Amino acid sequence: MSVTPNNNTRFSQQVLRDQPVLPEHLVTRVWQALTRATKDKHHQWRTPVLASIGLDGQPQARTIVLRQADPTAWRLEAYTDSRSPKCLELTQQQRAQLVFWSEKLRWQLRVSVIAHVHTQGELVDHAWAKMRQSPSATDYLTAQAPGSELLAGQHNTAIATHSDRDHHLAVLAFEIVAMDWLALGRGGHLRAHIDRTGTLTPLTP
Ligand SMILES: Cc1cc2nc3c(=O)[nH]c(=O)nc-3n(C[C@H](O)[C@H](O)[C@H](O)COP(=O)(O)O)c2cc1C
Repeated sequence: MSVTPNNNTRFSQQVLRDQPVLPEHLVTRVWQALTRATKDKHHQWRTPVLASIGLDGQPQARTIVLRQADPTAWRLEAYTDSRSPKCLELTQQQRAQLVFWSEKLRWQLRVSVIAHVHTQGELVDHAWAKMRQSPSATDYLTAQAPGSELLAGQHNTAIATHSDRDHHLAVLAFEIVAMDWLALGRGGHLRAHIDRTGTLTPLTP
C-alpha cells in the first residue's frame, strides 16, 4: 500500500482500541474488519446498505448481509433471490455502492463497485451448499418473487419439499473500484480515498 504525498500526520493519531492506525496499516485494518464481518453475526459491518440505480433511474438502497470478503481479489459477495428487482437493476447498471457504518469502530466505509449477478454455476452451487441447511434457506425457496403483491389470504410460504434446482439463490459479486473511508473522532474526523491499488489519499472530511 502507498500513501500519496499530501499525507496528513493526524492519520497517525487516529486511535482504535488505544492503538494508532498508521496510514500504511489502514487498508489492512479495513480488510480485517470486512473479513470479520462475514464471520461474526454481531459485527456492525455485516449488514451494509447496497445502493443501486433503479430501472426508472431513481436510486434504490437496501440492507444486505455481507457473505464473503476477498482482500486479494478486492471482491465482496452477498446473496439474494434471483427474482428480486435488484438483480435486474444490477444487470442493467452494474455500478453500485455499498455503505458500511460501525458505531463501535466509528468508521464509515463507502465502497464503489461493479456488480456481477450470478444465477447459476459454481459460485451459486457453492453458496447454496452453504445455505441450504441454514434457517435462511427458506428465503430462497418462496413460491412468490420478492416484491410481488400478496393477494388477500395469500402467504409467502417456502416450498415445503424441494430439490436443489428449485432454489432462487443468486450470488452478487462486487468487484471493488474504490473506497471512501471516514473515521469520526472527538478531536476531529479523518477521511481517505483508497484506490484499487491500495493507494491512500487523505481527504478533508
Ligand atoms: C438486516 C437485513 C438483512 C438483509 N439481508 C438481505 C440479503 O442478504 N439479501 C437480500 O436480498 N435481501 C436482504 N434483506 C432484504 C433487503 O433489504 C430488501 O428488502 C430485499 O432484498 C428487496 O430488495 P429489492 O426489492 O431492492 O430487490 C435484508 C434486510 C435486512 C433488514
